[in-house]
Amino acid sequence: MKKIIIANWKANPATLKEAKDLFLREAEAAEKFHTQTVICPPFVYLEELAKLARGAVKLGAQDIFWENPTMLKNFGVSHVLAGHSDRRYLLGETDEIINKKIKAALEAGITPVLLVGERNRGDDRREVLEEQLTKDLANLLTSQVRKLLICYEPVWAISTAPGAEADTPESALETISIIRNFLNSKFQTLDSSFLYGGSVTEKNVADFLSNSEIGGAVVGGASLRKEEFTKILEVASSLT
Ligand code: PGA
Repeated sequence: MKKIIIANWKANPATLKEAKDLFLREAEAAEKFHTQTVICPPFVYLEELAKLARGAVKLGAQDIFWENPTMLKNFGVSHVLAGHSDRRYLLGETDEIINKKIKAALEAGITPVLLVGERNRGDDRREVLEEQLTKDLANLLTSQVRKLLICYEPVWAISTAPGAEADTPESALETISIIRNFLNSKFQTLDSSFLYGGSVTEKNVADFLSNSEIGGAVVGGASLRKEEFTKILEVASSLT
């Protein structure tokens, strides 16, 4: 299966002009390497960037409000992040809210990208993940869970965390198998795709994506560096 790369720009770049330039350059790279790419810019740029989206690049949103999910769909948004640690821990988003957002996205025909992960290195991963997955996916049908992309993103590995460094591929794979087994026991979601996020760079992306168990990556900081992101897309396109 083709790998998917999801760029999470967070609150960057600072101007619409820079956002358009970055989007066009990254779209060009995605087309060149035929890499499945989703770019999630800040909300304020969605409308303008929707006009530039084409081919291999899809437009993602960083958030969704459950009372009017079709608004995003009308902008041409195909994916939406849910459960990112910035919202969970900085903005106090609860699992119940994440669950509402996932349901709303599915209702609107938008693919939710659910991010789960423990906060500190050494936390009990299994306990944290099983609790997040149970609550975030509450009352969803197996057929709905299959539509999600689920990303293991340990919060301590996110590049903005103090002393952050990426998880090792071995440890990420171990965690992904915890997630997979748990979901299989609850939903029989054998064919779900699992992604990794947290300090993915041009240097380590192949180590993660060369494993068939890892279907793609969520990339934050490196998605703002055009040359580096281009390299990531190139590596992703060479792996299946
Ligand atoms: P990072 O961010 O790639 O800069 O670690 C990932 C994220 O926050 O989703």
